[in-house]
Amino acid sequence: MNIILLGPPGAGKGTQAAMLVEERNMVQLSTGDMLRAARSSGTEMGNMVAGVMDRGELVTDEIVIGLIREQLETAEADGGFIFDGFPRTLAQADALGELLESVGQSLDTVIEMRVDDEALVSRITGRYTCAKCGAGYHDTAKKPAKEGVCDKCGSTEFKRRADDNEDSLKTRLMAYYKDTSPLIGYYYAKGQLQTIDGLAAIDEVKGSIDGALSNA
Ligand code: AP5
Ligand code: ZN
Repeated sequence: MNIILLGPPGAGKGTQAAMLVEERNMVQLSTGDMLRAARSSGTEMGNMVAGVMDRGELVTDEIVIGLIREQLETAEADGGFIFDGFPRTLAQADALGELLESVGQSLDTVIEMRVDDEALVSRITGRYTCAKCGAGYHDTAKKPAKEGVCDKCGSTEFKRRADDNEDSLKTRLMAYYKDTSPLIGYYYAKGQLQTIDGLAAIDEVKGSIDGALSNA
């Protein structure tokens, strides 16, 4: 099954994708994670996008479509793909349809996670991840079982993203409403959109996603 998790920054796309990967053997394709990996390994492309990302603006369609193309052509995904943070523009949505078709696959459903702006600010400013394994946490909503120790790998080092501050969040939200929210109508018109309440607790949101997947 191939799905898109669609929602503003902090909606919980990455949190839910990680659970789907564990339980359903799906492969998460997060363009944000791919771009951050390119930055930390210091590739030419990584250096080129660093400032754009820190300001909260969108990277060019050409770059992110190239990243997804590469993954679709090489990654093995028996359980299917979860597109997380991609597509983000109408051009990216068109390209995804064409890319899936070219590898003999299709999109099963698009899950829109709806969360209001106020909650997004506290989710983003409270977010941190394990510096070693990347597991995601939050200052109040998702603490490790033992304070200061990663549940998954036992590391005691954590980090915060450079774009997780109120200024770049404002730009990220504007980009979402201007460039990405038109995808809601785009997928609705194709009969592929399901909308869930992303404001509920993490487990409840997971239940809604499980429900949406069984309807797909
Ligand atoms: P990207 O990495 O995609 O960031 P984003 O869309 O801003 O999404 P986030 O990762 O911030 O949020 P999320 O929805 O995954 O939330 P999470 O689960 O972590 O993109 C970063 C940048 O890269 C972009 O700004 C752009 O520059 C560039 N880029 C990437 N893709 C691009 C593309 N396709 N085109 C162009 N440019 C692109 O949750 C957030 C926090 O809330 C966590 O701490 C979590 O623990 C907590 N939380 C989650 N769910 C709940 C809940 N239900 N209740 C309470 N807390 C919760
Ligand atoms: Zn860890």
